[in-house]
Amino acid sequence: MSDTFLAAIAVRTRDMDGPPIAHTIAMRAAIAPFTVRIKKKSVMESGDYKVSDISLADFGRKELELAEHEMPGLMSARQEYGPGQPLAGIQLMGSLHMTIQTGVLIETLAALGADVRWCSCNIFSTQDHAAAGCVRGGTANIFAWKGETLEEYWWCTDKALTWPDGSGPDQIVDDGGDATLLLHEGKKFEIAFAKDGSLPDPATTDNAEFKCVLATIRDSIKKNPKRFHVMVDRMVGVSEETTTGVHRLITMADKGELLFPAINVNDCVTKSKFDNVYGCRHSLPDSIMRATDVMLSGKKVAICGFGDVGKGSAQSMRAQAAIVYVTEIDPICALQACMEGFQVATLDDIVSDVDVIITTTGNKDIITVEHMAKMKNNAIVGNIGHFDNEIQMEALEAATTRMNIKPQCDKFIFPDGHGVIVLAEGRLCNLGCATGHPSFVMSNSFTNQTLAQLELRKAYLEAGSVKSKSKYQNKVYLLPKELDEKVAALHLGQIGARLTRLSVEQAAYIGVKMNGPYKPSTYRY
Ligand SMILES: NC(=O)c1ccc[n+]([C@@H]2O[C@H](COP(=O)([O-])OP(=O)(O)OC[C@H]3O[C@@H](n4cnc5c(N)ncnc54)[C@H](O)[C@@H]3O)[C@@H](O)[C@H]2O)c1
Repeated sequence: MSDTFLAAIAVRTRDMDGPPIAHTIAMRAAIAPFTVRIKKKSVMESGDYKVSDISLADFGRKELELAEHEMPGLMSARQEYGPGQPLAGIQLMGSLHMTIQTGVLIETLAALGADVRWCSCNIFSTQDHAAAGCVRGGTANIFAWKGETLEEYWWCTDKALTWPDGSGPDQIVDDGGDATLLLHEGKKFEIAFAKDGSLPDPATTDNAEFKCVLATIRDSIKKNPKRFHVMVDRMVGVSEETTTGVHRLITMADKGELLFPAINVNDCVTKSKFDNVYGCRHSLPDSIMRATDVMLSGKKVAICGFGDVGKGSAQSMRAQAAIVYVTEIDPICALQACMEGFQVATLDDIVSDVDVIITTTGNKDIITVEHMAKMKNNAIVGNIGHFDNEIQMEALEAATTRMNIKPQCDKFIFPDGHGVIVLAEGRLCNLGCATGHPSFVMSNSFTNQTLAQLELRKAYLEAGSVKSKSKYQNKVYLLPKELDEKVAALHLGQIGARLTRLSVEQAAYIGVKMNGPYKPSTYRY
């Protein structure tokens, strides 16, 4: 963003003569709802959507309205940017858990002018009333329901990527990178097809999910062998929500394979140090309790990984008076866990003794089938990292008999009669068994998403709509720290916090500007 733009933000965020503007906005929101008009689409009339039950729309609309009150960052983004319609005419696709909170993000992007299509990034995470509410609200074409099959999931992703005239998105909001992956793999296979007529063959992989990706691309090439080329050419950029998706993007960028610019929203301080930590601190115990109702106090809980998600998860279990163990590969995170009073151990050492085991690593094969065979009867196993491969689910299914207890809660029974209770089939338990993070923390993450989408657009327009001249090339970028501080500032008023203001002398003494940024980019929070 231009310096003038950032300066304007800083001044507006901290009005020196009155209360900080974030405080004023939050106060206003507490008294009366915002009244930014959103241009509606005729989604229901068009039939261009798929949700599980449109009769849930009224419930969805009520919860969307309640969530707006808890999402001051998004509501002030509507207020600030809505009148200028900076995303007018932009085709914006999202692949991110279709929850109520995401609904408020979707309606914010629509309020800024975007033409939005959306799918979930997880087969279990959709809140059906949220999906129905957005369709009824006419703010987005939604393709998502709770309990999709893998085939349906990739069908939804493909539908969300495709506008009625066959064109693709200008910009994507991604979570975990599946939409980005489909465009990249699609173009790769179209190139191979043009060269030698070969089509992707789902039989070439054992991975059930990748089989669906290959089948989707094969069917697309048969209809139009240049479809993904055209979509990639149109793309201005993607903003990525989570750690695992950012890892994928960085790997592609390092190999020179990334086909459009990406903004790493995860590593905004007001995302990863809030959503990943405090969001999981709220939603992990929520998911274990909703799924099992087991008392956690006095139980032994192992948290695998002590990064951001692990830190929040471990804190939440301690708050329940559980005895908490942590496993780590990184000596720094292991030492942090020790300093917090957690016992650091290997899973092999404690696996037969613990009652609950949660993976948070973003890595694979953390809990093996051999581990699960050694666990206590009815030990609870869950994953709060992004994908479903932290727990060896396929091997577990092969070695056990499955007893479904209720949706997203199964007992897998070994031949000796003992079994483990697995949450959400090894996928994100907080979104499968509960409703994800609460609105207030998601307002931080999603305000960053909104600013990232605006930033991608702004840079493109500043470059005269010539991508090669944009300041964003096919790499992974962070948002400026000023915006991170702005996002935090927008949430202080609602919870009654009052910022201390630096004096001119103090600012000079510690070497920062009066209006921030207050920390160097190397600061770790
Ligand atoms: N469920 C949610 O709501 C939610 C929210 C945010 C992020 N995530 C996902 O959670 C995962 C973790 O995110 P994060 O931000 O905490 O990442 P992070 O990198 O901060 O933490 C991961 C930790 O796992 C450790 N680790 C890696 N391999 C390990 C192993 N074999 N054994 C033990 N520890 C190991 C790493 O050293 C690291 O400290 C990612 O997949 C991310 O996408 C989920």
